[in-house]
Amino acid sequence: MLDSPTIADAEFDALLRRLIELEQAHPELQSPDSPSQRVGGQVSSTFRAHRHLEPMLSLGNAFTPGEVAAWYERVAGLLGRRPPVMAEPKIDGLAISLTYDHGSFVTGATRGNGVEGEDVTPNLRTLHELPLRLRTDPPDLVEIRGEVYMPIAGFEQLNERRAADGQPLFANPRNSAAGSLRQLDPSVTKGRPLRLFTYALGALEGQSRPPTQSALLDQLRTWGQPVNDLIRAFPEITGLEAFLEEMLDRREHLPYEIDGVVIKVDDLAAQMELGFVGREPRWAIAFKFAPMQATTRLREIRVNIGRTGSLNPYAVLEPVRVGGVTVSQATLHNEQDIHRKDIRPGDRVIVHRAGDVIPQVVKPIVEDRTGDEQPFSLPDHCPSCGTLIVRREDEAMAYCPNPNCPARRYEQINHFVSQAGMDIRGLGSRLAAALLDRGLIHDVADLYRLTAGDLMQLPNIKEKSAENLLRAIDRSKERPFRSVVNALGIRFVGDQNAELLVAAFPDIERLRHATVADLRTVHGVGDRMAESVAEWFAEPRNQALIDRLIAAGLTMSTVGETPVDGPLAGTTFLLTGRLDDLSRGEAERQLLQLGARIAPGMSRAVDYLVVGADPGSKLKRAQELGTAVRDEAWLRRVLETRRLDEPATG
Ligand code: IVH
Repeated sequence: MLDSPTIADAEFDALLRRLIELEQAHPELQSPDSPSQRVGGQVSSTFRAHRHLEPMLSLGNAFTPGEVAAWYERVAGLLGRRPPVMAEPKIDGLAISLTYDHGSFVTGATRGNGVEGEDVTPNLRTLHELPLRLRTDPPDLVEIRGEVYMPIAGFEQLNERRAADGQPLFANPRNSAAGSLRQLDPSVTKGRPLRLFTYALGALEGQSRPPTQSALLDQLRTWGQPVNDLIRAFPEITGLEAFLEEMLDRREHLPYEIDGVVIKVDDLAAQMELGFVGREPRWAIAFKFAPMQATTRLREIRVNIGRTGSLNPYAVLEPVRVGGVTVSQATLHNEQDIHRKDIRPGDRVIVHRAGDVIPQVVKPIVEDRTGDEQPFSLPDHCPSCGTLIVRREDEAMAYCPNPNCPARRYEQINHFVSQAGMDIRGLGSRLAAALLDRGLIHDVADLYRLTAGDLMQLPNIKEKSAENLLRAIDRSKERPFRSVVNALGIRFVGDQNAELLVAAFPDIERLRHATVADLRTVHGVGDRMAESVAEWFAEPRNQALIDRLIAAGLTMSTVGETPVDGPLAGTTFLLTGRLDDLSRGEAERQLLQLGARIAPGMSRAVDYLVVGADPGSKLKRAQELGTAVRDEAWLRRVLETRRLDEPATG
């Protein structure tokens, strides 16, 4: 319940603000158990209470750049000068306080009610970014304040895993971070992708306080604490408004959620002079963004047929503003997911938008039901071709099994010509539909047999555009093998997985004959993908399609593709374990670009095994084989210097 709210947080905030306004106007109405009397969360009884040496503050809010400017003018008036300020992204996670005794991390606690929080030390210890010792010059005692958060990608993956295990989903990255940190078993927390930024000090003993917020952040960095590098200093308010706008834009693309920007007077002496009103400092303010969550009505659930035949239900919503964007549709994943969350047409629902991804329906507000809402079920027959829908026992998805289903063909063509696939410019979805409707093409291989005469049968296509289109189709034959593999539209094989596949099976003959066992040896290829690839190639229809694509002259091997003269050409790498700075996929991609090979498993062919945290059996095998073993720092150097050896000294 605590980490699983029933209304969107921002709506709660808005209600709370109205309540406070009302109570201020009519103090006689305020009761001792009013929600306004409980600041932030409550201390839960599950964890040991931890009393903060210095209270953890809250911040006043501004909702427009104008309100920020008004705040600054007030501050300038009080100080009698226009002070420099720091602007820091307001990370949407949960506030924590880390106590270090003579440089050793001794206690970590949540904010709680600001005075007393929960002692979650063992859980915080599992965060690999949290230094267990301060690196240099530790004071006798210090409380370091910061934010524990979960990156959006990690949140999505965690929810996917939870959905697969039938566990309740987290509503957003912040609840997910809170739920992950407040675990009784630290090994559960360890498995969660939690990260940390620090930005303030509480108590400090045996050392003088940094004179400015900027010096404080430098101090945190030298202690080895993670500090957000989007933080900016402004000598005056000039430029701040542009920065707030910039952060609003960047918000959509950051790997973690921010819910605003915190603006702080830089100078400590000025901060002291300004002081506090209640628990809010006058010297800082939070510029709050429009929330990424809202509630709205779910009008109906519609079903879309994917290129693999999957039935993809989606929500048609009463349009609602979420984080500054109007949302009228949201993904619902699959039928099981809808049932697990018990989402019904007509429900009021919480909608969440995270970064670049499609909005999601988090949950229904069951309390708002009229009683007439009926559970949803998928149609028994394909809405496009009428074929009886099949369900695989082991999978959540329902499929239209008809390979000739018009909706499937349409999606397949669109996927095939897309930018990450064959990148056939000018062949948009409307044209694809027209070609299919007129029977000019039946599948993707037919594209390569189109003539100018065929194309000119279509409305609005004249000689010139027909020629351009044919040229674009012809040029697509030069797309690399990996793009061809992606374009095929095999389930679970997107651009990144296609790259893994072609690195291990560098031509179509090897790939089309790979068994599940062969595929499983490729690092990063799991059971689901291995089975899906083998199954796809086992279809005689698909084998025939491949033959026709070969005959059409598409690129069917990586030969000549890898820069043979790349600085790492002829060197084979294998990566294992968790890397800190890069994802393994990203590191592998960069290595491939430099001409290296990535081995599908540990063998004598491997020149370098790069090990991250928690390496598995590969390390042992490498030691037995006498393979060179290197760490992430070495890998980073190789990628930066684009060479294997240390630069010669002297
Ligand atoms: S400063 C006076 N800096 O926002 C100092 N807070 O509404 C108070 N937050 O509880 C905190 N990023 O959880 C500060 N760079 C940042 C922050 C930040 C996120 C959160 C924090 C705090 C809340 C205040």
